[in-house]
Amino acid sequence: MSLDNFASQEISNNEVKVALERAVAQVERNLPHYTYACQNHTSVNRFYPKCENNQWTCGFWPGEIWLAYESTDNRSFRDAGLILVDSFYNRIINKIEVDHHDMGFLYTPSCVAPAKLLDNAKARDAAIMAADQLISRFHPIGKFIQAWGELGAPDNYRYIIDCLLNLPLLYWASQQSGDDKYANIARKHTATCLKYSIREDGSTFHTVFMNPKTGEMSHGATCQGYSDDSFWARGQAWAVYGTALSYKYERKPEYLDSFRRVLRFYTEKLPADLIPYWDMIFTSGTEEPRDSSSASIVACGLLEMARHVSPEEAGEYISLARQMVKSLVDNYSVKAPSISNGQVLHATYSKKSPYNTCTPEGVDECASWGDYFYMEALTRLNSDWKSYW
Ligand code: GLY
Repeated sequence: MSLDNFASQEISNNEVKVALERAVAQVERNLPHYTYACQNHTSVNRFYPKCENNQWTCGFWPGEIWLAYESTDNRSFRDAGLILVDSFYNRIINKIEVDHHDMGFLYTPSCVAPAKLLDNAKARDAAIMAADQLISRFHPIGKFIQAWGELGAPDNYRYIIDCLLNLPLLYWASQQSGDDKYANIARKHTATCLKYSIREDGSTFHTVFMNPKTGEMSHGATCQGYSDDSFWARGQAWAVYGTALSYKYERKPEYLDSFRRVLRFYTEKLPADLIPYWDMIFTSGTEEPRDSSSASIVACGLLEMARHVSPEEAGEYISLARQMVKSLVDNYSVKAPSISNGQVLHATYSKKSPYNTCTPEGVDECASWGDYFYMEALTRLNSDWKSYW
């Protein structure tokens, strides 16, 4: 799984340290603005507007705060992170915009993190409630967690590849509560997802519609990719990190095989600087925007999987991750606060095409998850990080 076509450099330990310090300084500068507010999903002209705690992405900014806290032990990060725990507790207890599957994206970095780091009871309770909310969307016939919309609605009877990242919340909830019901649903959803979402060539469907009568796959479709049969970069990135996490929890050889297949497809489609275009049907020479957030997500997936495979295979994954992070740091990261209050430029949330169904938003901007996973990748390279996922 090497990038034979590219002679890319790996990031050094010192460069990692410097980049992480710069990222932490950016979090510190942002702290006064976003302690009692959340960051919008993406920046607008490279600066994040404030938002209410009502988007699927609001957990990533608190995740950055907890990574900054781990990196510095600075009390101001801990205090701000705990103020945001109150906000996330309030959100789940009052069921504010939680009728979707993104409970893991929301509650793992914002609440599981402080539950693990500080043994914080309020964070733990909030994250368990979020896990309960997530399993309420499970369909026993098709054995999947419905992503969006009214439960059982025919136009939304589907799951999406991104959901693999929501499942660690369920494993954690089982371990905390002693009740296996959460992990059992994670197991079933994973099996369904890895059976149907990965195409023959290792690329992935963004969304998979299920047949409510038979419980089998109906058809694949995109929402944010270019077209139903294209290769949405972030979907592929979620598949890389998601299968690494599935393997971490289940240790099934077929999940390792899934990881290798989706990773191979991803690396084969990369342009020379290792940062994908927003859909991987676009290759070198196109004017289409990149999605830098996919590169950060994949780097985290590689570094996660490196913990579970032979030293030889792990070495390849770490080398690849170091090359990707080098490209991100050198060419995409924010070097001065006057340019942006985010961490990484050139992410794409949703770009409209003639064939997809998304609302166009956040094209060639910073993305809150891109910033978080960039910091996670740097943290993983800088220390023996205890994962939130
Ligand atoms: N999970 C939604 C996205 O990646 O845009």
